[in-house]
Amino acid sequence: MEVSEGLLYLGGISADSLLERFGSPLYVYEEDVLISRFRKMRNCFPPDEVDIHYAMKANYNPSLLSLLCREGACIDAVSSGDVRMALEVGFDPHRILFTGNNSRLEEIEFSMSKKVPVNLGSLELLELYGNRFPGTSVSIRVNPGMGAGHHSHCITGGPDSKFGIYRDRLADALKISEKHGLKLSGIHSHIGTGIRKTEAMIEAMDLILDSAKHFPELEFVDFGGGFDIPYRESDEELDLEELGQRMRQRFREFCKNYGRDLKMKIEPGRYIIGPAGALLATVTNITETPSKKFVGIDTGFNHLIRPMMYGSYHRIVNASKMDAPKESVAVAGNICESGDVFTGKGPDAIRKIGGPKIGDCIAILDTGAYGLSMASQYNLRELPAEILVKNKNVEMIRRRQDFGDLVVNFNWFGG
Ligand code: LLP
Repeated sequence: MEVSEGLLYLGGISADSLLERFGSPLYVYEEDVLISRFRKMRNCFPPDEVDIHYAMKANYNPSLLSLLCREGACIDAVSSGDVRMALEVGFDPHRILFTGNNSRLEEIEFSMSKKVPVNLGSLELLELYGNRFPGTSVSIRVNPGMGAGHHSHCITGGPDSKFGIYRDRLADALKISEKHGLKLSGIHSHIGTGIRKTEAMIEAMDLILDSAKHFPELEFVDFGGGFDIPYRESDEELDLEELGQRMRQRFREFCKNYGRDLKMKIEPGRYIIGPAGALLATVTNITETPSKKFVGIDTGFNHLIRPMMYGSYHRIVNASKMDAPKESVAVAGNICESGDVFTGKGPDAIRKIGGPKIGDCIAILDTGAYGLSMASQYNLRELPAEILVKNKNVEMIRRRQDFGDLVVNFNWFGG
């Protein structure tokens, strides 16, 4: 991303010209950013010690997955759809880990039929699995009793979380696996997402390892994802080198005491794809009230729900007027709900962006993760196209939906 003569450029092409060519709104991904984020992760968590399972729930566009496949990533899959997509892209089944939650047995059967390892998050499911697949290898998800994350919806450990087998119930997991001749080959945990305080990750790691030592047949321990990215102008990058060193050091010590070398796994999603993406939209309206100037754009929480769902902050710029004098505005979407305001409520509710006019291109930044993957067709609006840019080259990696796509399943239309 760079600025030249007042315009925002992505992959060497101005955001305005991308909208002109591919229509508005539009998700744009910069390949160089994606690759360099993955390589940074891999340098801090090298492949001889750590498998990096990209959490494809963050963004499952197959063209992006295929780039990561070539880079040597593994996959964290959450549904049969994820598993199918990863296999289609060319990931070896053993490089995928299926971690569902409240999964139907058929989803587990599907993974097993494709030789994709499964990771189970409840005693009930372990029992069901043991009956269906006795004598096989399986891993379990543990709730270490603590969680962390950028919002209460995003904390996945601790007593309020639906995920995993609570750590005081692990003896039961061992009993169930003995009963069915299962080999418990892995311990998995993911305490939450958008974690800025790396101390929480280390603390959870210690708790997980404390549980792991009771399982004699382990091949891996998986510490999940959660690595945050800078969203606000004032945020700093995580010190990934330091975190990587600390986590690997702890893991080596654990392996020494355990008596065998195990593989460490992590599952970053946001860290890898978040900063690579921008959502571009066009200014369609400007409305003033006694307290605010609203800049209306042609996208909404149907395409990017994070600000509405979690009050998440995303940097917003006028990509057509990067150097123009700034005005204080609220940026609102085109969904028929008053909460559809990207700049939110409270102290962050106003942003300063280059004096917006109808037709300008607005860019909402750091939207590569949990952007289009969480989108909906609310208000009967099409999902935007996705494009991949690099060195002034553009590839359309998902076409824009049309009305036919929106109505295809209704019997009224012959669906
Ligand atoms: N592993 C597991 C088991 C997960 O559930 C998740 C995310 C990850 C890994 C990847 O976490 P990450 O490295 O991306 O933080 N919609 C929310 C995020 C929900 C994440 C769900 N699980 C958001 O937009 O912030």
